[in-house]
Amino acid sequence: MKLGVNIDHIALLREARGVNNPNLIEAIGICQMAGAEQITIHLREDRRHINDKDVEDIINHSPLPINLECSIENEIIDIVCKLRPHRATLVPEKREEVTTEGGLALSLENEKLTTAIKRLQEHEIEVSLFIDPNAQAVELSSHLGVEWVEFHTGSYSNIWAMLYSNLPQTNHTIKELELPRTTLKEMLQSELETLNNVATLAKFTELKVAAGHGLNYQNVHEIAKITQIEELNIGQSIVARSIFSGLYKAITDMKALING
Ligand code: PXP
Repeated sequence: MKLGVNIDHIALLREARGVNNPNLIEAIGICQMAGAEQITIHLREDRRHINDKDVEDIINHSPLPINLECSIENEIIDIVCKLRPHRATLVPEKREEVTTEGGLALSLENEKLTTAIKRLQEHEIEVSLFIDPNAQAVELSSHLGVEWVEFHTGSYSNIWAMLYSNLPQTNHTIKELELPRTTLKEMLQSELETLNNVATLAKFTELKVAAGHGLNYQNVHEIAKITQIEELNIGQSIVARSIFSGLYKAITDMKALING
């Protein structure tokens, strides 16, 4: 299973001061030395962390393939087509959200989506769709002719956190926090079974399979057992740990957990 490191949070720290420190290219060098196989960045419409120049510099200088997350807005797709990362992962985007809260709403009739996919593929960019783990989303992804799907693991991560740490990752509600432990355990098991089933279905339809969101050093183990998943994209937990351990060790520790 490969590891893509999402470095948006390193850019977020840089933006706090508006200086070129920490430097993203330096971070990518450390990611590579530590064994990461891919760099993931998100060019958000509000440019809150990664900006256009970052994307250009990173694509020109990164020794690792770049997976660029982006919305399907024309202005963004124009930039992506011009800069040509290895892969573009299409994600839903809301200005006010803290992080990507769910998978893309897919439809074969969504012209904006089908045009974005077609344009990216014409520029020889692999396309991935960030989707919720359900069979309908997999089938639609297959019909949309993309190369990859990435399953949103936010729901799994939240249930895990409520069961074992009482610190939900995202989107928690008081109602969920009040659920009995046995119910949460069943929910977690069911979430894992769903991820396993949809990953199998995606493989069957010849899609390549990635997953990510809210994965950390405690909850990644069960996800890493799903052999149909080829790649995990992880950001927040790795960058957070790097403050204490350094980026190199944060990555080698994560790699050991997902492959060990
Ligand atoms: N994959 C996708 C498509 C994402 O949008 C994100 C969050 O930016 C991640 C993976 C990484 O999530 P996290 O930062 O919670 O590890």
